[in-house]
Amino acid sequence: MIYSAELLRCLERAESICVLTGAGISAESGVPTFRTNDGLWSRFKPEELANIDAFLRNPVLVWEWYAARRTVIHEVFPNPGHEALASMERWIRDFTVATQNVDGLHARAGSRKVLELHGNIERSYCIDCGSFAEDPDPPSPGNAPLCKRCGGLLRPDVVWFGEQLPEEVFQKAEQAARRCSLFLSVGTSSVVYPAASLPMTARESGAYIVEINTERTELSSRFDETILGRAGSILPELLQLIKHSRKIHQ
Ligand code: OAD
Repeated sequence: MIYSAELLRCLERAESICVLTGAGISAESGVPTFRTNDGLWSRFKPEELANIDAFLRNPVLVWEWYAARRTVIHEVFPNPGHEALASMERWIRDFTVATQNVDGLHARAGSRKVLELHGNIERSYCIDCGSFAEDPDPPSPGNAPLCKRCGGLLRPDVVWFGEQLPEEVFQKAEQAARRCSLFLSVGTSSVVYPAASLPMTARESGAYIVEINTERTELSSRFDETILGRAGSILPELLQLIKHSRKIHQ
């Protein structure tokens, strides 16, 4: 792939990079996305599975769905896109990944500074006492898992429709977006807010903002550039460019 002179300049100089990732980065690992033709939201209804009313109406159904998604995630591995981001962290002084994904694949690839905007599917918390359960017992057929402390219903620690993002996590993501000189938005359809506002926050603070996606999105026209391609191919190439420029300057 041939990259623009502006992006090459940014990669060469960047001391602070912020990356927003979405389901597209995990697609190459085999985790289904949400809004592509065969994505999760074409087969399941968010209003039946991803909001608190649906959960209270039918916790077993919601738990079965999350248990099935957890099984998929346990069977897959980080791909070269995740791995390239984990390596970039070692080359860039201030490097932040803010992810909308709940699959934990960035951490498994070795990224240490990951802001999980929408939670993590491996964790649960009690809707009564708020206690966290790192690895709750899988729901037995017909039952939802219960809090070991108070016996209340456990729910997955993921952000559902109509819920606020974890405040401190989002604040950190906004700060990283304001600090960075280069912002990469990778594998997200850019339709879910407030995550989708982060590139614009970065731009307002003077960052060069770049989208990496297999197709154009609703926000493409507002990015400085869109690189059309797979995250698992583009990110390793950007890593090589970063390494090359850092070696030259050492
Ligand atoms: P989407 O499913 O909406 O979008 C995935 C994006 O990834 C699409 O724009 C694809 O074109 C792109 N894509 C697919 N494969 C790719 C690849 N190999 N390389 C690069 N891009 C690729 O997923 P998100 O934008 O992450 O929220 O969805 C945002 C939120 O909506 C999710 O976090 C979830 C969902 O409702 C909650 O559950 C709160």
